[in-house]
Amino acid sequence: MTTDATTIRTVGVVGAGSMGRGIAQVAATGGYRTILFDAKPGVAEQARDFISGLLSRSVEKGRMTQAAFDSAMAHIEPAQTLEAMQPCDLVVEAVIENLDVKRAVFSDLEALVREDCILASNTSSLSVTAIAAQACRPERIAGFHFFNPVPLMRLVEVIDGIRTAAHVGESLMEVGRRMGREPVRVKDAPGFLVNQIGRGYTIESAHIVDENIASTHDIDRVMRDLVGFRMGPFELMDLTGLDVTHPATELIHQQFFFEPRFRPSLMMAQRTAAGVLGRKTGTGFYAYADDKPVAVSEPDAPVVKPASVWISPAEAEGRRAVVRLLEQAGVEIEGGDRPSERALCLVTPVGEDATSAALAQQLDPSRTVAVETLFSMEKRRVIMPTPATTPEMLAAARWTLGADGQPVTVIRDCPGFIAQRVVAMIVNICCAIAQSGAASPADIDKAPKLALNYPAGPLSLGDEVGADKIYRILKNAYDAYGDPRYRPSLWLLRRAKLGLSLKTPETMPS
Ligand SMILES: NC(=O)c1ccc[n+]([C@@H]2O[C@H](COP(=O)([O-])OP(=O)(O)OC[C@H]3O[C@@H](n4cnc5c(N)ncnc54)[C@H](O)[C@@H]3O)[C@@H](O)[C@H]2O)c1
Repeated sequence: MTTDATTIRTVGVVGAGSMGRGIAQVAATGGYRTILFDAKPGVAEQARDFISGLLSRSVEKGRMTQAAFDSAMAHIEPAQTLEAMQPCDLVVEAVIENLDVKRAVFSDLEALVREDCILASNTSSLSVTAIAAQACRPERIAGFHFFNPVPLMRLVEVIDGIRTAAHVGESLMEVGRRMGREPVRVKDAPGFLVNQIGRGYTIESAHIVDENIASTHDIDRVMRDLVGFRMGPFELMDLTGLDVTHPATELIHQQFFFEPRFRPSLMMAQRTAAGVLGRKTGTGFYAYADDKPVAVSEPDAPVVKPASVWISPAEAEGRRAVVRLLEQAGVEIEGGDRPSERALCLVTPVGEDATSAALAQQLDPSRTVAVETLFSMEKRRVIMPTPATTPEMLAAARWTLGADGQPVTVIRDCPGFIAQRVVAMIVNICCAIAQSGAASPADIDKAPKLALNYPAGPLSLGDEVGADKIYRILKNAYDAYGDPRYRPSLWLLRRAKLGLSLKTPETMPS
């Protein structure tokens, strides 16, 4: 008989640290008899007391009934030895992140548990396939990757190793649901789903800093205000700590055989080496006082009104967005296909830099400024001059775009501004995952929303912007930089050319 979700009653948790105790808590509240073991004497008992403290606060706040509390606590059994795992139908390992230690735990467990007991690892960065490789029955081993803090983070990744039997993953999906989680299914790959997708946000932002295009603070403001991310990439890295983010990036890059999309940033490497790690060291991309980031103010926009403003018709949607904005602010706009002699020329490129847009449209580069229009302009505007733009024209553009009092961020000339580049990179990584068949489009969209607080699923975000535009941004960056990190995924290319949603699966014989 094989164990399936319906026959799982007793769950073992090995390792009662931050993750193990969280997993034990959701297993117990999900109604499983939960046996908890830690190699360090007393830690399993401490974990039970910790869970009791958390749940009793939930009772005090009215979020949990006393009966549910009593039931959950009655389900948790701290154990003195690993032998206590013997009756388990499922054991989740959450010991330290070390391949040899994890393999040894699985080897010990295999000698104890029934043949049909499912074994799962909460590893965050090791290959599930490698952990299972030396086991007697690798087909019963899978990844079951929870996020920290477990009771608050609803996502759990169920990872199929090369030899994992299908029913094992299916059971873990069901067990995850019963534990109150939202499971996603993914084939074993570096970074699984969430840690792979999350690279796009941080690394592309760091590369923009490496190229001296914008400051970390400006990138944070842009990603929050234009795209709706709750935290900017640098705020996020400060919270996580560069000692965690940078090595994880290096590992994923290496494990993918140096795939350029995951190439780490020199700036991140240097700051890690310098020990400027983030909140935990008191200084990171922000300075911290009392564990709170010290506010960084923005310069006021100058009052330099342009003689006249002309908006390029080359990108119809972009032009419409700027016209709407300026009309609401009462700024007069020149008519005509070509600008007058003295006009400030605003272009709205998709994926192009301001210089290329000015030259392609035969505009005077000294009077040209590019405006980002692909994302919300409600809270902030982003503009970039060409290197030839005069300071007067740039000042006039700042005044014009901020005429209604909203802040204007000025960045140096680059293909795709900030938001276009970062979003396109995230979408492209997700398209490459979809192309590889490692996860379904629905799960690719769900995972970063739940684990990383993304404002939307990346494939949905790509659809919102337009697959064709995401493709143009990447193609332009690829042509401008000649760097394969920007090569568009074929998944993206086909859907962009066919006018299909990025969530459209491949057609296969039924
Ligand atoms: N902390 C996170 O944010 C996070 C998130 C997802 C996954 N993970 C993964 O979860 C696992 C545990 O991480 P953690 O943060 O809970 O670590 P932790 O250091 O807080 O806890 C690990 C526990 O395992 C115990 N242990 C070590 N060797 C053991 C053994 N052979 N048998 C039994 N117990 C043993 C330790 O005594 C310790 O209590 C790691 O694989 C980690 O990569 C961590």
